[in-house]
Amino acid sequence: MDELKERIRKDGTVINSEILKVDRFLNHQIDPQLMKKIGKAFAKHFQNAGITKVLTIESSGIAPALMTGLEMNVPVLFARKKKSLTINEDSLTTDVYSFTKKVHNTIFLEKDTIIKEDHVLIIDDFLANGEAALGLTRLVDLAGAAVSGIGIVIEKSFQQGRGRLDRAGYAVYSLARIASLNDHHVQFLD
Ligand code: G4P
Repeated sequence: MDELKERIRKDGTVINSEILKVDRFLNHQIDPQLMKKIGKAFAKHFQNAGITKVLTIESSGIAPALMTGLEMNVPVLFARKKKSLTINEDSLTTDVYSFTKKVHNTIFLEKDTIIKEDHVLIIDDFLANGEAALGLTRLVDLAGAAVSGIGIVIEKSFQQGRGRLDRAGYAVYSLARIASLNDHHVQFLD
């Protein structure tokens, strides 16, 4: 998606060879017009996949996921990173390891929000090592539903996530694929 790549070049900051800061339009301040176009791009790509629900994880995945659900006219769900007061004891859970933060987190989804007939599109803001996306696929598996696609806003192709998701057989579509972040410069893959 050319507009996204231009925005990353203009407003992104390369923190080091592994981390890109995009707090001005995606992770902190959010650009609704850009999110709308991101939602349209995912909806177009997965239009024939029979998607019935969009699933993401809080917090930065919610904006692109919501716009995708709006375009596809399907409900949007987000997995929680903390057990909320209202979530049932028999919620679906799985552990996700964050390489960036070096911690294990349990993520939660209310039981029965996804049913076995669902075809789920997973959306996330970043794909690094794939832990979050794989955690979300496990929640869908626990619900007995199908993962019918994975949409990523920014893929860091030099990390392991893309390969892991490809090898697991998922249909992955990333709007911006980063080959490297060397010398404070973002090099895109295509
Ligand atoms: P993984 O899920 O692909 O394995 O990623 P990892 O554990 O490395 O990432 C943990 C958190 O760091 C995630 O956000 C992820 O989006 C974010 N992250 C990973 N790489 C980058 C990067 O280059 N730039 C930025 N800005 N974020 C990155 P999170 O902690 O869940 O945060 P949030 O969704 O609540 O904002």
